[in-house]
Amino acid sequence: MSSSSPSQSSEKYAFITGAGSGIGAEVAKRLDRAGYSLIISGSNPSKLNVLAESLVSTPIITVADLSQQEDVERLAKQLKNELPALAIAFINAGTVEIGSFAERNSEIIDREIDINLRSTLHLIQACIPGMQQQKSGHIIATSSIGGIFAMRGSSVYSATKFALRGFLSALQQELLPDGIKVSGIYPGAIDTPMLRYEALNGGSPLNFLHEPKTVADVGKSFMRTLKTGRLETFVPYSDSISARLIGMVPWIIPKLLPYLEKSGEKGRRKFIASHQLVNNDKLA
Ligand SMILES: NC(=O)c1ccc[n+]([C@@H]2O[C@H](COP(=O)([O-])OP(=O)(O)OC[C@H]3O[C@@H](n4cnc5c(N)ncnc54)[C@H](OP(=O)(O)O)[C@@H]3O)[C@@H](O)[C@H]2O)c1
Repeated sequence: MSSSSPSQSSEKYAFITGAGSGIGAEVAKRLDRAGYSLIISGSNPSKLNVLAESLVSTPIITVADLSQQEDVERLAKQLKNELPALAIAFINAGTVEIGSFAERNSEIIDREIDINLRSTLHLIQACIPGMQQQKSGHIIATSSIGGIFAMRGSSVYSATKFALRGFLSALQQELLPDGIKVSGIYPGAIDTPMLRYEALNGGSPLNFLHEPKTVADVGKSFMRTLKTGRLETFVPYSDSISARLIGMVPWIIPKLLPYLEKSGEKGRRKFIASHQLVNNDKLA
């Protein structure tokens, strides 16, 4: 942890994981402009430093690799015992591995589960006591449309994001009496380093059935969710309708897949060309 320790209790603190890029960085900038004091987290300190320089206020920086149990435990301890109670916990970090489940090595399976699900649950749990004490707070986590509609090639990702949806729904009911709100953000395809990696490395063509949305679209929806306290926010909303309808009849997916994938491949080529993507580095 770096930076000065928290001061006045009148400050409203927001904790953000995966803050160094994409959706997390966008939300951090919006919360900063809205007057929140930030605690930003990620595994890459240089990305967090770049974000910190773009903010109005000086954030507290917590570096943690969420695939490592000792880092998750250390961060959870800091949240419980050292850092100020939070107005907002945005647990957003995530990763995606692409390819056949049958051929996947078990370390890679565990890593994806650790980052997307296990650390998310442990960090959320660590944020609860401070919020319970102040009888307020808002826990928001990033799931995915992939947590409603499963895509081949990202089965473990879907497992984590489906699980997160069920978890958030139960947690909302548990924390209601404490005055703590619980919400999930369900993005479709959003133009971030993660999606660009998927575009170039064999991610599902279904991501490219429509022009991907921007982090600004997610940022706006996040700020709306803060006001409404809604359990589930979909970005874009239209994706959620098709995803939820198809989710009710999953046996229809193999029949539709050839047509959808053909159309998605066209969208992928257009996305790669229009952004002149050439970088094959993982989540560069
Ligand atoms: N982009 C999309 O189309 C899309 C769609 C649906 C859902 N989502 C979800 O949105 C969330 C944010 O992703 P994004 O699209 O904004 O992509 P991104 O820019 O690649 O952000 C992913 C973030 O997760 C953090 N992260 C990954 N592995 C980590 C680890 N081992 N330890 C700590 N932090 C780690 C990264 O931080 P460091 O680099 O500092 O490690 C990074 O800031 C994810 O949960 C993702 O599943 C994205």
